[in-house]
Amino acid sequence: MKFFLDTADVEEIKKAVELGMCDGVTTNPSLIMKAGKDQKQVIKEICKIVDGSVSVEGIAETAEGMIKEAEEFSKWADNIVVKIPMTKEGLKAVRSLSKTGIKTNVTLVFSVSQALLAAKAGATYVSPFVGRLDDVSQDGMELIYAIMDIFMNYNFETEVIVASIRHPLHVVEAAHAGAHIATVPAAVLEKLWHHPLTDTGIEIFKEHHEKHKKTIK
Ligand code: G3P
Repeated sequence: MKFFLDTADVEEIKKAVELGMCDGVTTNPSLIMKAGKDQKQVIKEICKIVDGSVSVEGIAETAEGMIKEAEEFSKWADNIVVKIPMTKEGLKAVRSLSKTGIKTNVTLVFSVSQALLAAKAGATYVSPFVGRLDDVSQDGMELIYAIMDIFMNYNFETEVIVASIRHPLHVVEAAHAGAHIATVPAAVLEKLWHHPLTDTGIEIFKEHHEKHKKTIK
């Protein structure tokens, strides 16, 4: 499973790249606002740090406007992927862009039918938001299992990015479901590798090593 980082914070991305756990990056207008930098400047910076795809999102609501934004974004770097909202106009834009080679990531997906239509339109990626479904007492991960089932039936090339991840179990479940990618906030990535019993175990081994060294002198 590929790990994308869900952030526009350059320092967070650098740390994940160092760890070897950053196969790509996803951003959105909220994450760009949080980063506090000009969108074009920060995306170009990120594209230089990350080899994999970097998703950038515009705000156009018509297919024509989305296509225009996509054409502009794709000039910024070779690894740009354009995030398109899951709307009727978005589907039209994705279908048109799929013929131009500009990669798309259909976002704000909350149902199987939305994911199915995005795949049929030729989206490169589809991003179902599991955390936001959990937030309204629906089982976000159930959506992932259902989407993966359908995608396997039809051999869709569209890759599923599990998004809106809130905790490590979302990542583990995404892997169980066979999702292609999990896009993970930096804070969740930190929780994936750390376990208190590992720390305790290391301390005990160090203590016993020192004790043993003294006894065999
Ligand atoms: O990639 C989409 C993600 O950033 C949305 O996450 O926490 O705003 O639901 P969240």
